Amino acid sequence: MTASRPEIVAAPDAIAAAVRDARGRGRRVGFVPTMGALHAGHASLAAAAATACDDVAVSIFVNPTQFGPHEDFHRYPRALEADCRLLAEQHVRWVFAPPVEAIYPPGHATRIVVEGPALPLEGAIRPGHFSGVATVVQRLFQLVPADRAYFGAKDWQQTVVVRRMVADLGIPVEIVVLPTVREADGLAMSSRNAYLSPVDRRRAVGLHVALLEAERDWSTGVAPEAIAAGMRRTIEAHGIAVDYATVVDPESLQPLSAPFASAVALVAGRLGTTRLIDNRLLAADRRPGAAP
Ligand code: PAF
Repeated sequence: MTASRPEIVAAPDAIAAAVRDARGRGRRVGFVPTMGALHAGHASLAAAAATACDDVAVSIFVNPTQFGPHEDFHRYPRALEADCRLLAEQHVRWVFAPPVEAIYPPGHATRIVVEGPALPLEGAIRPGHFSGVATVVQRLFQLVPADRAYFGAKDWQQTVVVRRMVADLGIPVEIVVLPTVREADGLAMSSRNAYLSPVDRRRAVGLHVALLEAERDWSTGVAPEAIAAGMRRTIEAHGIAVDYATVVDPESLQPLSAPFASAVALVAGRLGTTRLIDNRLLAADRRPGAAP
């Protein structure tokens, strides 16, 4: 059976009406917010949405407010045709691809302020980034009033910030976070991998290698600070400039408060002008001495 092409919708009123109409007829709607340049990670989110829901909407919008002034907004890859082909394979019903003015009307002056888990790590290195993410995601949730929204665990801090915002603002959507999809050598899939030169592409696996070492060290009882230092050494040994390498509480993103709590190892680094992030959850029950 040939997969049918999703309907491309640009008008906010049209997507909102289509989703409300489907839900009014008792259909479950899943939503995958993206910035396009889709890869197998996005495909896995759309596939999970299509399995659990009757209809799936995917938004493609390169959100200007989450990029800093010297970041890659202008060169961020845009590939609507290829994206629609990939989404057709996943039985996506609607692609919501709004113009900038539909999300940010002329004269717009309102932003969501996010604190707590939005402040460290990416929040410290990219000031304003999570405010931009929260603002656009809240607007997208208004326009695509789905039952469930799907996010990838690769952007761990983003998933924490979005879940916090949904709880704080009482947004009626269930957030589903799915595992990171990786290349054969373990590099986390990212639209930004396309920027890497062949040499940097080989080096980039250093982030994944460091996280595997972190997981091994975690399960042999190494202290979080020593795990973080080990990750930093491994990443640097691969020729990657480290922005951070840390082991923190998976919800607050603050230092661990209990010896046998779950943790997340988070890393970010730069290869030339390309910035990559990755993470790995470290389960409490893999820590020696943890209660069975
Ligand atoms: O993860 C992304 O692609 C973006 O941050 C998101 C959630 C689509 C908001 O622009």
